[in-house]
Amino acid sequence: MDIQEVLKLAEELIYDHTGENLDYLQKTILQRTLEGQTYKKIAEETYASETHVRYIGAKLWKILSEILGENITKANFRTILENTNIHNFVPVFCRDNATNNINICPSNPPASPTKTNSQQTPTQHIIDLDKAPEIINFYGRTEELSTLSKWIVSDSLRLTRGYRLRVISLLGISGIGKTTLSLQLIQQIKTNFNYIIYRTLRFSPNLNTTLTNLLQIFAPETETSDNIETLLSQLQKYLEKYRCCIIFDDVQKLFAPGKLAGQYKSCYEDYQDFFQLLVTVSHQSCLLLISREKIPEITKLETENYPVRTLTLGSLGAYANEICQKRQLVDRESWEKLINNYQGNPRWLDMAATTIQELFSGQVAEFMEYQTLILPEALQGELEQQFEHLSPMEIRVMEQIANQSQPISIGEIIRKSELSIQESVNVIQSLKKRLLLDGKLENNLTVFTLNPVWKQYLKINSNNLKVSTKLDKANGEI
Ligand SMILES: Nc1ncnc2c1ncn2[C@@H]1O[C@H](COP(=O)(O)OP(=O)(O)O)[C@@H](O)[C@H]1O
Ligand SMILES: [Mg+2]
Repeated sequence: MDIQEVLKLAEELIYDHTGENLDYLQKTILQRTLEGQTYKKIAEETYASETHVRYIGAKLWKILSEILGENITKANFRTILENTNIHNFVPVFCRDNATNNINICPSNPPASPTKTNSQQTPTQHIIDLDKAPEIINFYGRTEELSTLSKWIVSDSLRLTRGYRLRVISLLGISGIGKTTLSLQLIQQIKTNFNYIIYRTLRFSPNLNTTLTNLLQIFAPETETSDNIETLLSQLQKYLEKYRCCIIFDDVQKLFAPGKLAGQYKSCYEDYQDFFQLLVTVSHQSCLLLISREKIPEITKLETENYPVRTLTLGSLGAYANEICQKRQLVDRESWEKLINNYQGNPRWLDMAATTIQELFSGQVAEFMEYQTLILPEALQGELEQQFEHLSPMEIRVMEQIANQSQPISIGEIIRKSELSIQESVNVIQSLKKRLLLDGKLENNLTVFTLNPVWKQYLKINSNNLKVSTKLDKANGEI
């Protein structure tokens, strides 16, 4: 960034924050500071006293510190502003996709901003993707990518309270493409971060393991400690010192099976404090939490106007045609219906495509000829795993809704249910948090529908011994 660009960015930030344009003296102070001039010289040029120039300067650094969440001084003003925008960091470490190892990649030396104090972010750029899957195909999602990178890169500076955006939750049903999107996002945002770290919580590591693992990325010699608070404050220091993007995938694995949504497994409740801490304490990093279910404390903080945002991922839309194309399906005129039937969910479509290839010679029209939605075995297996995770009361209500041909209102659900009003309300809220239930307004009444694939799964399985056993169990527990 040249001086004029830095100046423009500073002016915009201050205007956004205070609603006021800079006056002549303020502009001159910023510009001459960028040119490396002393307060004394600026005072001479502007015919103001040096004390007054220092006073106005100090006020400017204070405003900028509030906006950027960092201690801005005359000495570090230029470097910090340059670092907040896209600069040409070149990765020096990256994951070798074939081996999943972190390697030092051949790269040119990064364009290094002048360092003036130890708080400056280094120009190194480390990407540690650990067990992230390799992306082979990526279609569409342009809008979602641009929303996320805007939130992470540009909007973060413009939030009304002057904070950076610290936590983003990326939600969506299983197979919709959350993990894939987050990995693709890394390509777009990597130049803005010193560290990009991806970790899956699929195997439910406890918080101590997760924190120790993260700390060892910053300082390999970090020793383990039983004291979570010590580990947290060590991590906080790194998140303050470096601009890091930490992606935690499969956050839903921290929640207890068989209970209503959003309740942490026992011994995992401290993640709640961890996520909350990363929203509420000051640092310059960003946490991306990926989950099939809403994360309760993030939802709460979002309503309280903390620097948190949520993106819920929906259908892949017309881009899903590329999946049909890639799987060499025929009957193009039937693709749209196929895509809609499987909710534009790339994993579900891929499973359907396998069945269409194997049993219908790739002919979509023939596969779609039947009135009923066919659920490939692999898809049933995936739904079954999630089904096992639901609470007995949720299963009851889901089955009740699955049997309706029309959307059903909360009043009807309560009337037809054997659950108490309170229980019914809790269950509906829980199913909504799991993104399994869609609510919409019809004639001034909120009505609910089940995702058609789930609806079909419940119908198919209502006579299945396994499901009835589970439902019986549900009956017994109510
Ligand atoms: N935008 C996309 N373009 C092409 N394939 C995709 C896309 N998003 C997801 N997929 C494919 O769909 C499957 C499920 O995606 P994934 O990201 O694992 O979903 P989730 O994390 O939401 O469960 C993967 O095989 C992935 O390759
Ligand atoms: Mg995933």
